[in-house]
This record gives sequence, structure tokens and C-alpha cells, in this order.
Amino acid sequence: MSTGHGQQTRIIVVGAGGRMGSRVCAIAHADRAFALIGALEHAGSTFVGRSASPESGGEPAPKIVDSARVFTRSCADVVIDFSSDQGAHASMALARSVDCALLMGTTALSEATREALREESRGRAILLAPNTSLGVAALADLVRRAASMLPGYDCSIVESHHNQKKDAPSGTAIRLAESAKAGGADRIETLSVRGGDVVGEHTVRFAGPGEYIELTHRATSRDLFARGALAASAWLRGRGPGWWTMEDVLGLSTR
Ligand SMILES: NC(=O)c1ccc[n+]([C@@H]2O[C@H](COP(=O)([O-])OP(=O)(O)OC[C@H]3O[C@@H](n4cnc5c(N)ncnc54)[C@H](OP(=O)(O)O)[C@@H]3O)[C@@H](O)[C@H]2O)c1
Repeated sequence: MSTGHGQQTRIIVVGAGGRMGSRVCAIAHADRAFALIGALEHAGSTFVGRSASPESGGEPAPKIVDSARVFTRSCADVVIDFSSDQGAHASMALARSVDCALLMGTTALSEATREALREESRGRAILLAPNTSLGVAALADLVRRAASMLPGYDCSIVESHHNQKKDAPSGTAIRLAESAKAGGADRIETLSVRGGDVVGEHTVRFAGPGEYIELTHRATSRDLFARGALAASAWLRGRGPGWWTMEDVLGLSTR
């Protein structure tokens, strides 16, 4: 391992030109706790050759590249992926060749990709993080507990996102449904709403005879997820092989 970066967490971002990837790059580049080692996009992307953090002053950020071959073994601690199902495979190959941990922020992964990630976690630390917000981790915990206190109540999840979001329901809605199920809810319906520039809103409702309660999380800035992903990367740094979630990062895990 290189020692040049001291206690910094060295990251490579895959999907670096996208809405999330660009914010991860910008925030990491401005924060001395992190070293932005590299930024990757797919071949043919218009972002290739551009700075990974064009707005920042000071030391220039790395340029976005389209080939993982430039990254040497042990050059980074964590690969952070906010790309696509296909990109997830590129990130797995990259983490393997660099021999580092992988934080998977991309949602709507296929079953085959999730299986490949599980397999990969035998050899390195893999953090599957469909939502990197602290508030959503707390909400998931509250939903599980509410479901266990309200047996027989109908559970519905309404999620709202910007009109560019490719997957529905959101990875977060799926996770909240899993939490409700873990708490004993058996009738769970999910509704997805797409429109405008909504960063992300999730409401979980438990309805019973004569009453209902609602638990809502609203994200007001994408930077929330970028900062959460970076905090989780710092947690992942140097961690051995295994399968991790945001609950583990926040000490909320029940396993
Ligand atoms: N974990 C969280 O908290 C969280 C929060 C928000 C979003 N997300 C998820 O993160 C993912 C990205 O969201 P986004 O809003 O940033 O999307 P986006 O703006 O479309 O960004 C994705 C970027 O990845 C690139 N890409 C696609 N395939 C690639 C590959 N094989 N190799 C390298 N780069 C590739 C895309 O290029 P093209 O546009 O040219 O295809 C695009 O620049 C989605 O799955 C989203 O649901 C997670």
C-alpha cells in the first residue's frame, strides 16, 4: 500500500460524470480526509477527458478516464460506484485489480449482479448502499419497529423522485419494504411518483381501524447522499472481506 496519503481515504469514483458521481468527486476533492485518485466513465462518454471537479480551485482534480487500466494495484482504498448495472461489473473488476473495498451506491441492480457482488464479498469488503443517508437508515429502523407494534395494519410506501430517475420503485422503497416485512407487515404496497426535480421523498404509512400513521423522509440535496457515501468509504477503508450495509456503518445492524 502507498503511504503517501497518510490517513486519507483514497477513492476512485465510477460514474464520475453523473449527478451523484460528480458530487462525490467534488466533495472528496475539497476534503483533506479524502484523496480522489481517479474518476471513471464508460467509453464514449462526453465526460471523458474533463476534470472530475471542474468548479474547484487549488490543486487540479484528476481527469475523467474511460479505462480502468491506468489504476495500479493498491493505488486506492475504496471504489465508489454510482453508475448502472453494467457499471457495477466494471467496478467489481476494478476493485479486484486494485485489491480494495467497493461501495455500491447504484440501485436497481439485477439479481445476477447482486449475486456477483455477494460472491465478490468473499474476497473483499463490499458495502451495498442503495441509500447513503443517515436519516433513511434511522427511518428503516423506525419502520421495522412500527410494523412490529402494529400487527395486521396495512403498510404502504409512496416514493417520489425527479423525472430522470431510471428505476422504480426506488432502491430505498425496496429497503423500507424489507424493514416493514422484518417487523411483521405482510400487506405492503408501493407507489412510485416521478416528476420535476425532487431529490427523494419516502413516506411509509401504517393504516388500521380508524387511524393511520405516517413516517416521512425528505432529501433536500443530493450532497446528503454524496457525504454519506464518503463517510461510509472512510468506514470501509482497510476493512476485510465481507458484506456490509449502511446499518453496519451506523451501528444500527441487528445481525
Ligand atoms: N445510494 C444512494 O444514496 C443513491 C442516491 C442517489 C442515486 N442513487 C443511484 O445511483 C445511480 C446513479 O444515479 P445518478 O442520478 O447519478 O445517475 P446519472 O446521472 O445517470 O449518473 C450515472 C453515470 O454513470 C455513467 N455510467 C453508466 N454506465 C457506466 C459504466 N458501465 N461505466 C462507467 N460509467 C457508467 C453514466 O453515463 P451515461 O449517462 O452516459 O449512461 C452517468 O454519467 C442510480 O442507480 C441511482 O438510483 C443512489
